[in-house]
Amino acid sequence: MLESIEKALNKQLNEELYSWYLYLSMASWFEDKGYQGFAAWMHAQAQEEMIHAMKFYHFISDRNGRVILQQIKTPKNEWSSPLNIFEESLAHEQYITGCINDLVTEARKSNDHATDVFLQWFVTEQVEEEDNVGTFVDRLKMVEGAPGGLFMMDQEAGNRPRRRRARS
Ligand code: FEO
Repeated sequence: MLESIEKALNKQLNEELYSWYLYLSMASWFEDKGYQGFAAWMHAQAQEEMIHAMKFYHFISDRNGRVILQQIKTPKNEWSSPLNIFEESLAHEQYITGCINDLVTEARKSNDHATDVFLQWFVTEQVEEEDNVGTFVDRLKMVEGAPGGLFMMDQEAGNRPRRRRARS
């Protein structure tokens, strides 16, 4: 594997670890404010980010690369509302989609087909990641100013099974 690709994959491993950290921080905000359903949903989201990170970890290793762990930056810990959290989650997922797309471009430029194929799982995954949080943004806007609606959404978020995740 080219050194430039190895470096880029290590950077993405760190981005996924930061995603885990960010969603864990969001989960703790929800817990603190009494939104147990949203907190459970965010914990599940954080766990998925750790799975993403480990996919990069194992892929780098399998290609005889070296995983170099970097410092994970401190995530934000205060938000103004559940809507504010999900809007920021959506913005973060859009950023991650951009990172994955850039990685695909780099892998293709380098004729690294194995990395290209590996990344295709993430390309598909990002469509769902953005859709999941985008749906929350839309629905939270609908119930703005209606505490009953927010209460119901919190309950629903805690009960709703994740839509995928059987695949690896
Ligand atoms: Fe690993 Fe939510 O993207």
